[in-house]
Amino acid sequence: MCGIVGYIGKQRAAEIILEGLEKLEYRGYDSAGMAVYDGEKVNVAKAMGRLQVLKEITRGGETVPGHAGIGHTRWATHGEPSNVNSHPHTNKEGTIAVVHNGIIENYISLKKKLKNKGYEFRSETDTEVIPHLLDYYYNGNPLETISKVIQRIEGSYSLGIIFADHPDEIYAARKSSPLIVAKNDNGCFIASDATALLKYTRNVYYIGEEEIAVLTEKGAHFYDSDAEEIEKEEIEIKWDADAAEKGGYEYFMLKEIYEEPKTVRDTLNPRIRDNKVVIDELKMTDEEIRSIGKIHIVACGSAYHTGVTAKYVIEGMARIPVNVDIASEFRYRDPLLDPSDLVIVISQSGETADTKAAIEEAHRKGCQVLAIVNVVGSSIAREADKVMYTWAGPEISVATTKAYSAQLIALYLIALKFASVRGTIDDKQLAAYIHDLRKLPQQIDLLLGEKEKIQKFANRYTAAKDVFFIGRGIDYAISLEGSLKLKEISYVHSEAYAAGELKHGTISLIEEGTLVVAVVTQKDLYDKTISNIREVKARGAFVMAVTNVDNPDIEKAADYAVYIPETDQYFTNSLAVIPLQLFGYYVSLGKGYDVDHPRNLAKSVTVE
Ligand code: F6R
Repeated sequence: MCGIVGYIGKQRAAEIILEGLEKLEYRGYDSAGMAVYDGEKVNVAKAMGRLQVLKEITRGGETVPGHAGIGHTRWATHGEPSNVNSHPHTNKEGTIAVVHNGIIENYISLKKKLKNKGYEFRSETDTEVIPHLLDYYYNGNPLETISKVIQRIEGSYSLGIIFADHPDEIYAARKSSPLIVAKNDNGCFIASDATALLKYTRNVYYIGEEEIAVLTEKGAHFYDSDAEEIEKEEIEIKWDADAAEKGGYEYFMLKEIYEEPKTVRDTLNPRIRDNKVVIDELKMTDEEIRSIGKIHIVACGSAYHTGVTAKYVIEGMARIPVNVDIASEFRYRDPLLDPSDLVIVISQSGETADTKAAIEEAHRKGCQVLAIVNVVGSSIAREADKVMYTWAGPEISVATTKAYSAQLIALYLIALKFASVRGTIDDKQLAAYIHDLRKLPQQIDLLLGEKEKIQKFANRYTAAKDVFFIGRGIDYAISLEGSLKLKEISYVHSEAYAAGELKHGTISLIEEGTLVVAVVTQKDLYDKTISNIREVKARGAFVMAVTNVDNPDIEKAADYAVYIPETDQYFTNSLAVIPLQLFGYYVSLGKGYDVDHPRNLAKSVTVE
């Protein structure tokens, strides 16, 4: 979603802002803009469309000179994508400029009050109330004024602000929307996402809820919402800059699929010691693990799909009941939670608004929250009681791939840990599971070696209108993900069904040539799913099966088969996901789409 980059220092701000915004393009946006103080006044440049347009109209930043500035990529929420709705927004005189991520929920009443006081609004955005409010309360002291304004706005915000009469400072504030401050020898930066700054520095400060930062060329000072100064610790981000570059791949998505063996290894290996699962971050005694009543897994999108897999794995191995919820449902359905229950939230970005709200709901009901998160220091990581990081590194492509695989590993480890502590598996079984987990990276490499086979198959289906993904049990969980991967980047309508559910309605949609992708990895369910394959084939479907190497019956039932190497039944999704991700990727590529930036989608969904 929207991105913010700001800079004050020895270098020219516009170039740094453009470069930083380019790194945030992956988040999804529809317009871009910046405001830079040139020594006399604040110049604003903004343009609808790709960042390239802003680059062109400013000749790569040349027409907006100066050493202090703020920039923004906008993903429209209030008001259509247009030049006038793009950020920065300013007060009438153009002496205060603001970029904003988030939603100001009380903007209608604020707008009404400001209009009554004679303020004129140019855009349809919620953001525009902020520069006018700052103008209204301005007493010559930006910090005091920002403090007053943030106490009057409701909703979520990360803000970058410049005041023309304080040219040696830029300002930032945040609530429920990410924003970091960073510094190096040449100046200070703000950004809504660390990837924008990796090139310049890895030393960052996290601005807390309702806190304000004042940045100068030399450093940053932090204040609470009453403008009282507070101390902050500098934190080093371990991701390296290359991880956020394409490195010769045409799209980040393919690069990130290729990073999956490493991601799996990095998430797994540090948590296996002497053939035991050691998850220090759990901070739970064996007694506490034994007394968990129920587990609630809450997440959105693909992260939710890993939760669906985990239900089968945790219930199967550890015999603890698991509920899986979509976060936007969980937060409003007054879920029945007991303090003895453990709530697990899963999020790549660590900023997903609904998932964050689920943490609040769990806390209100007295539950401990364990977060499985990729982005270190993100809001979800800070708000949960315990954090288990997935060591996937920066994920740039909007469609998640490597973070999904890392989340699965984290969840398998939790299942194994709980199962061994609760005595539902013995040491011998645990060792066998660990043995299979350790083989996954190499097996994923093998599957990646067959990518041309998937590419050829995908090329035949670039014109497909509808595709169905079916499976039972764990195979149903991966069908959900396979279907989402295809539809979100290739815009082909697809649906995932529990294979046994087809006859209850969906089978009427199958006609001559409809592609059905059947996932058949659960040995006990082979016969059942094969019967479902026969049913759709009898109605004209073309069936591609994703199955285990040792499934001889599949050749007779399906039209085309992709085989995954042998692993434990609980872990097959870690392998089956690879051909399904590649299938989505190649259909999108074959249709000539921008794989990394699917329309209407954002990488990090920070609004409801
Ligand atoms: C799909 C995808 C989304 C995310 C979802 C949750 O490819 O990326 O469905 O999985 O928006 O995002 P996070 O994991 O950041 O909470």
